[in-house]
Amino acid sequence: MSYENIKEELLNWSLKFKEKQGHAPHMCFLTFGCQMSFHDAELIAGLLWELGFVKIDQPEQADIIVMNTCSVRESAENRVLGQLGRLKHLKENNPDMIIAFGGCMAQRPEIVEKIEKSYRQVDLLFGTHKIDDFLRLLHNVLFSQSRSKDLEETNALPKEGLPRLRVQKHSAMVSITYGCNNFCTYCIVPYVRGRERSRRPEDIISEIEFLVADGVKEVTLLGQNVNSYGKGLEPQVDFADLLVEVAEITDLKRIRFMTSHPRDVSDKLISAFAQYDNICKHFHLPLQAGSNSILKAMNRGYSKEKYLQLAQKIKEDVPQVSFTTDIIVGFPSETEEEFQETLDLVEKIGFDSAYTFIYSKRGGTPAAQMEGQVPYQIKQQRIQRLMDLQAEISLQKNLKLEGETLQVLVEGPSKNDANMYTGRSDGYKLVHFPSQEDKTGEIISVKIEKASPWHLTGRLV
Ligand code: SAH
Ligand code: SF4
Ligand code: F3S
Repeated sequence: MSYENIKEELLNWSLKFKEKQGHAPHMCFLTFGCQMSFHDAELIAGLLWELGFVKIDQPEQADIIVMNTCSVRESAENRVLGQLGRLKHLKENNPDMIIAFGGCMAQRPEIVEKIEKSYRQVDLLFGTHKIDDFLRLLHNVLFSQSRSKDLEETNALPKEGLPRLRVQKHSAMVSITYGCNNFCTYCIVPYVRGRERSRRPEDIISEIEFLVADGVKEVTLLGQNVNSYGKGLEPQVDFADLLVEVAEITDLKRIRFMTSHPRDVSDKLISAFAQYDNICKHFHLPLQAGSNSILKAMNRGYSKEKYLQLAQKIKEDVPQVSFTTDIIVGFPSETEEEFQETLDLVEKIGFDSAYTFIYSKRGGTPAAQMEGQVPYQIKQQRIQRLMDLQAEISLQKNLKLEGETLQVLVEGPSKNDANMYTGRSDGYKLVHFPSQEDKTGEIISVKIEKASPWHLTGRLV
């Protein structure tokens, strides 16, 4: 059956549903993991929205629940399976409810096996390679009354021009590459997201122009390793070229990008980063570890000296930069001395903030087979020491901002206090401020009055 016919039948189904139930079919999204995963959820929401589905937040009232899942750490997978378990009784109350399970976990054979055996409430399994094929699977479930799955790995790019139901009106994620070729030895991502492939620059630019016309002020260019953007494209283009092209788009106020890989950051990229005012002065550069032996075992492709040099260059060329990182503690065979090297480097570089993780063994990755797995207690102590150090450094950095006026893109009212609003500074700091007026989506000036390690508080000027 052609894709057009499938869509037409689904649309008719949705209309009939509405006639019978008195409301349009409700869709609810449970999303885990990184921005790629949230981006996938927005695409699926867009496909269903075109069929008249309405998005809701309460799984109890859903007609379809779509789970986009994450495999990066075991704790993430356990959280997902816990949630999925709790959905079972919803399905008992409403047997017509459809549960769709997809994303990175669905690309792991042992998880799929588990789901097919023990989680019978799942009707539809979709992978990360063919998001645009979601409607075909849904059609199968609805019209053949059978479980349906497609986990094929294609390494093709998703169709261009798919509808999107964006969560934020003023800020949008834009994928520039899919997949990853780096095979860091601890990481599952290359196995669940496939080989790296780049979208064509003209497709990216026209998507962003469309978003800007739709009111978007900030875009985040997404890829597992944005610095290797462009490989295999004709005519030749690299990430710095793309960034410049994006920065030249009229009325685009803010550009962010993530994630950068230290091995592939070029001087050309740093100078583009420095040159344009609408490129946010926030550089996220995962360090992962501070000793050369562990970096090598991780297959990261750089030394601690190279990282330090790069960090210093970025800070010299862009003095106001806010610099953040990811760090893993307790990688197999990491000794106390090697961990100490990480602490020393963290202190020397002075990150504005760091996302810190306890190493998690991922089946099928080389590090899972390595000797010298570090006991959990030691990993726990190390992360605590690292977090304590980083909290102190973050506080010192933030204290320097007291009295300064920052440009803040307002995200909305704060969750805990209706009189407070929340936004992000150019340097990606979380800023809270009181306001009588709703300034959501505006870029405003906030004078910082109080700093803490994790956020800033100030007032409108
Ligand atoms: N592509 C990005 C981010 C990938 S996942 C990059 O290369 O930096 C986000 C972060 O999760 C990683 O930076 C790493 O710090 C962490 N991570 C990945 N695999 C992990 C594992 N097995 N255990 C603990 N942390 C992990
Ligand atoms: Fe994982 Fe490394 Fe690829 Fe990042 S660059 S996604 S850490 S393999
Ligand atoms: Fe998780 Fe997949 Fe992202 S494993 S971190 S959701 S690419």
